[in-house]
Amino acid sequence: MSKNYYITTPIYYPSAKPHMGHAYSSIVSDFFARFKRIEGFNVYFLTGTDEHGLKIQRAAEKNKKEPLKFCDEISNTFKDLSKTLNLSNDDFIRTTEKRHHISVQNLWNILEKKGEIYLSKYSGWYSVSDEAFYAEDEVEEKNGVKSSKVSGSMVEWVEEESFFFKLSKWQNKLLELYEKNDKFILPKSRRNEVISFVKSGLKDLSVSRKSFSWGIQVPTNKDHVIYVWLDALTNYLSALNYPNTKDNLYKDYWPCDVHMIGKDILRFHAVYWPAFLLAADLPVPKRIYGHGWILSGDEKMSKSKGNILDPLEIINEYGLDPLRYYLLKEVSFGNDGNISKDKLISCINSDLANNFGNLCQRVMAFTEKNMSLQVPKNINFNEEDLKILNKFSDNYDNLIDYINNQNINSYMNFIVDQMFIANKYFNDQEPWKKKNNLKRLNSIIYTSLELIRKISILLYPVIPNSSLKALNIFNITEEQINIESIKNNKFLESGTNIKKIDILFKKVLSND
Ligand code: ME8
Ligand code: MG
Repeated sequence: MSKNYYITTPIYYPSAKPHMGHAYSSIVSDFFARFKRIEGFNVYFLTGTDEHGLKIQRAAEKNKKEPLKFCDEISNTFKDLSKTLNLSNDDFIRTTEKRHHISVQNLWNILEKKGEIYLSKYSGWYSVSDEAFYAEDEVEEKNGVKSSKVSGSMVEWVEEESFFFKLSKWQNKLLELYEKNDKFILPKSRRNEVISFVKSGLKDLSVSRKSFSWGIQVPTNKDHVIYVWLDALTNYLSALNYPNTKDNLYKDYWPCDVHMIGKDILRFHAVYWPAFLLAADLPVPKRIYGHGWILSGDEKMSKSKGNILDPLEIINEYGLDPLRYYLLKEVSFGNDGNISKDKLISCINSDLANNFGNLCQRVMAFTEKNMSLQVPKNINFNEEDLKILNKFSDNYDNLIDYINNQNINSYMNFIVDQMFIANKYFNDQEPWKKKNNLKRLNSIIYTSLELIRKISILLYPVIPNSSLKALNIFNITEEQINIESIKNNKFLESGTNIKKIDILFKKVLSND
């Protein structure tokens, strides 16, 4: 079994600054990347920006800037955000890079040589905002404005010479693919959506544009630029230096384990992308996961609606780890979710400060006062201790399974339960009353320390900074974190020194 794992976020349009929706996809992907790393996988985690096409060209014009200069600036704000979010991405790809051009033109040449592309004329509806073509029955008119029923974005009429990809030819092969691998598209509800879209009949897809120039040239016809989605999707290959296989990146990481995306771009990833790859005789990705939307009020956040939540504001006010924790725990993964300050504050106060933070503080204060900050010796676990400690080894396979099925909520529920149980254990055992029974006292404190260690390891993919602060008590560094060690009840070495802990989370006083 290969120990490599490749996960990607969408590459975002640098048409405006990033918002909470982008932060969400990236944080979720980072969560999986970090988990797989501590599971021992060689992880390649990719994010980036999607910089060609009419949408970007028009945004640049509006800002009176050259497209590339405009992209340089906004792409940098996405790069900065990835640092602010503490993403562990291995690469950040921009579609204006040379390596990407080479890849896209190479894929085009293969498709053309295989007879999968032909020249014709497109006339139909196009949404610049989605960079998508829509069929007549996908378009409706509201107050004299034509828009897509699929996304709600405005469409305009396009009529021009265009190259077409023989998408219709791949309809059955795609249905076979969905059938053979029932987890190719997750969650299940989205899989059904895609299947019925494909069953309703696929038309050939226009894959080049002639009326503007901001894009990658069709190698065999200088008047055309390649359709921005064919261009953008190829980022997942170009970041692996495809077709250059000298450095083994492509060989090691393709096909991708998970393309993490929002449900808005499912059609491109679950229909067009595998069709391009099948036609080029390249392996298709293993999974497309289309998560829900972060809503602002009851609506999808979008620039045009002006209801954007700025992740930087929330992070400045409450801190990064609380935001990460909130998004991973409170959003039912796969479905839409709301950002509510009340719930965010309650996560900070109840889960992080009162539950996990308090457990660490109390156990550490006790250890400092009564055991001069040393891991206790002479341990003799009783049934109670073992019952709690063994929860981690008993659930180990489940936890791995949750991650492999993108079941974030079950993973988070397990952690929250263990935090609660550990606190209750410390209370119920009343170590402060056991000072004349040293053997028992030692076992209680040892067990409590082990629980802190195990929970901190599980929290690493969720709130890496706080987890590392907690693990620092035991001198465990990031490189040493290993998920399998949660199965071990005697990981901590008796007699070794442990360090004091800083306050992990400050409670938020809410008076509004
Ligand atoms: O579509 N809630 O880029 P984009 C949750 N360049 N996630 C959201 C969100 C929200 N309200 N808003 C955006 C593009 N996202 C293309 C992608 S990939 C080869 C090319 C996230 O800037 C979500 O992942 O419009 C969504 O799919 C993506 O940002 C769209 O970002
Ligand atoms: Mg979008």
